[in-house]
Amino acid sequence: MRTLDDLDVTGRRVLVRVDYNVPLDGSGGVADDMRIRASVPTLRRILEREPRAVVILTSLGRPKGYDPKLVLAPVARRASELLGVPVTVLPFELDEAEGAASGAAPGSVLMLENLRFYPGETKNDPEFAQQLASFGDVYVNDAFGTAHRDHASITGVARLLPSAAGVLMQREVSVLSGLLGEPERPFVAVLGGAKVSDKIGLIQNLLPRVDSLLIGGAMANTFLLAQGHETGRSLVEPDKVGLAARLLGSSGQKLVLPVDFVVARSLDDPGSARAVRADEVPEDMAIYDVGPETTEMFADRLRAARTVVWNGPMGVFESERFSEGTFAVARALARINGFTVVGGGDSAAAVERAGLSDRMD
Ligand code: 3PG
Repeated sequence: MRTLDDLDVTGRRVLVRVDYNVPLDGSGGVADDMRIRASVPTLRRILEREPRAVVILTSLGRPKGYDPKLVLAPVARRASELLGVPVTVLPFELDEAEGAASGAAPGSVLMLENLRFYPGETKNDPEFAQQLASFGDVYVNDAFGTAHRDHASITGVARLLPSAAGVLMQREVSVLSGLLGEPERPFVAVLGGAKVSDKIGLIQNLLPRVDSLLIGGAMANTFLLAQGHETGRSLVEPDKVGLAARLLGSSGQKLVLPVDFVVARSLDDPGSARAVRADEVPEDMAIYDVGPETTEMFADRLRAARTVVWNGPMGVFESERFSEGTFAVARALARINGFTVVGGGDSAAAVERAGLSDRMD
């Protein structure tokens, strides 16, 4: 993998693809700036080498075309505060953006508007990739969270310009490669989040490598259905029940599913919340967190672990009544005498909220 050390950026226009797909707070700010902070070492290292300009590329959300709620102004403001230099968002119209970029003062930090506003981005349209490439002389990819996308700003531009990985990308690849090699055992994975379909690749990849895989979050509901239990009004993926049943059949011993849950009539009615056993989810209620017995069981499994990968919350942790499962996993990881990797925006945000970020590797 080529790194920044292999790329001459001095006096050049440097396109930097980052993953600033961050939650917004709805009042013009960024609710969690972790991803922006994570890109600062790369941007600083480039700026120290006196480039002609830095042009930041990022996507935000999944808009279909221009959406005023997803413009990058709040993100650029936060990036500017963290970097200590102005970060200017270029006009949405690419012709105007080009004019503004070529007239910018030497050393400027610019940002193209949300890449997902342009249909050519997700289609990986060669013409759009060419347009993006025209904003830079060299390309740096530091967008680990988006690196799996075959999009114009990821794979398209990399084919057109001399390119290298940023500091964050390098670190992510090095940490995760270690896990694929000889991790210390027991190696335990904790997976949560809403959808089995989003995580199926991860589950299939991890199963042969881990000693156990603990499943929580709404994803567990689909497994619950596959076990023949009722799930009431919980979020489920009925078309993935067969897949969940096959996974249970082939790897039943490694998969650890919740034995109880916190249910409620709705998210807006936390007063109705109570813990029930997995086979007792009421018809008129939905699952919003794993239950206390599961929390204890997961913490127990994690106690002995020497390597842990955690991706996805155990429940709707944004709501206090449904946060215990997720925070209990965060606390269990913080206590582990081993190597802990937390991946995914929600789990990382939960760790941050629990004040335990510095206790994770
Ligand atoms: C993420 O948050 O997972 C990345 O930014 C990728 O987002 P995407 O799934 O919309 O491509």
